Amino acid sequence: MQAGQTVYLDYQATTPVDPRVAKIMAITSETHFANPHSVAHVLGQAAEKAVEKARADIEDFIGAQTEEVIFTSGATESNNQAIASVLFANTRSRRKVLISEIEHKCIKNAAYFYAAKLNYQVEEIPVHTSGLIDVDAYQQLLSDDVLLVCIMAVNNEIGTVQDIPYLAEQAHKVGALFHCDAAQAPETLDIDVKYWGVDMLSLSAHKSYGPKGIGAIYINNALQATLPPLIHGGGQQFGMRSGTVATPLCVGFAESLNIIKQEGQQNRQQLAVLKQFLLDQLTQSGIEFQVNGSMENRHVGNLNIQFIGVDANKLLGNLQPYVAASTGSACNSDMVLISHVLKAIGLTDDQAASSLRISLGRFSDEQQIKQAVASIKLAI
Ligand SMILES: Cc1ncc(COP(=O)(O)O)c(C=O)c1O
Repeated sequence: MQAGQTVYLDYQATTPVDPRVAKIMAITSETHFANPHSVAHVLGQAAEKAVEKARADIEDFIGAQTEEVIFTSGATESNNQAIASVLFANTRSRRKVLISEIEHKCIKNAAYFYAAKLNYQVEEIPVHTSGLIDVDAYQQLLSDDVLLVCIMAVNNEIGTVQDIPYLAEQAHKVGALFHCDAAQAPETLDIDVKYWGVDMLSLSAHKSYGPKGIGAIYINNALQATLPPLIHGGGQQFGMRSGTVATPLCVGFAESLNIIKQEGQQNRQQLAVLKQFLLDQLTQSGIEFQVNGSMENRHVGNLNIQFIGVDANKLLGNLQPYVAASTGSACNSDMVLISHVLKAIGLTDDQAASSLRISLGRFSDEQQIKQAVASIKLAI
């Protein structure tokens, strides 16, 4: 993707909306403007049908059953819903929540906030330098006092892909619930909530070429019946999330996942080739760099690169307006905070401060990469 003179290499912060998604959203805005909850008239019914078709498509995409997917405003809300509702609803004596050390801030902050308010304890599961969960440490933290485990499928900074089916199984062995933040997963993994064995899973449309402002949470039917909503009101979405759902956003979200279902495998192959091309170009340019995290278990478009001896924030500043990328994670890139993810994989502050996340996507190509590498070389 090239926007004017800027090469866009920040797909993990957000993806551009696929033109096919934009088109169907524009049509839906015009044709299904009625409130999808006003089912007493035909226009409301038609809008409701579009919303429920979108829900069914997303359920199909992740292997869920009917009414197991609830639309939210994004993965931040989904993650808050997962943690708050489980902690509020708990009637067992369990008092611990386990989260991985490299969870997104919205899991970390929600877990610590609700745990403090509701008298629970949060413990963090360490990771190896690869970013993969330290399974021995995880086993030691698991006990019959653990109520909930939250581990993300794909990390947003270093792209590490976890073995969710195994990790969920271990949590279930001690009777804990398992939540997975899968916001970064659709581009790189086939999600199957039943095979993965997760009780709850969060999604975000704008990481998968859909619109911003919408996401979803999967909660399996049996668990859903025991949980309170996070947002109270008119009782929409089977009482699990009140508020008028945005029909065009729901339809656009579903379309973005339908496209991935059709074209995902081919896109993944192309991205793997492009990522190697980027590494080769960097090597050939003579720039000194090192990749952070595992190369094997990694998001197909992600590279998190240490430019040895370079201040990444200054580098990104010097790269303007030619390259869009990220230091740390996008959500805190306007503050000079050392990334907790890079610290968790053992980087020193200096190494973390010299690291840049470059994320490729569907609209990246070799020409853009050549241009970006030339700009990086010049900026360094
Ligand atoms: C792994 C992960 N979880 C959650 C979020 C938050 O998603 P949203 O922007 O939909 O609230 C992000 C976005 O950066 C993310 O990468």
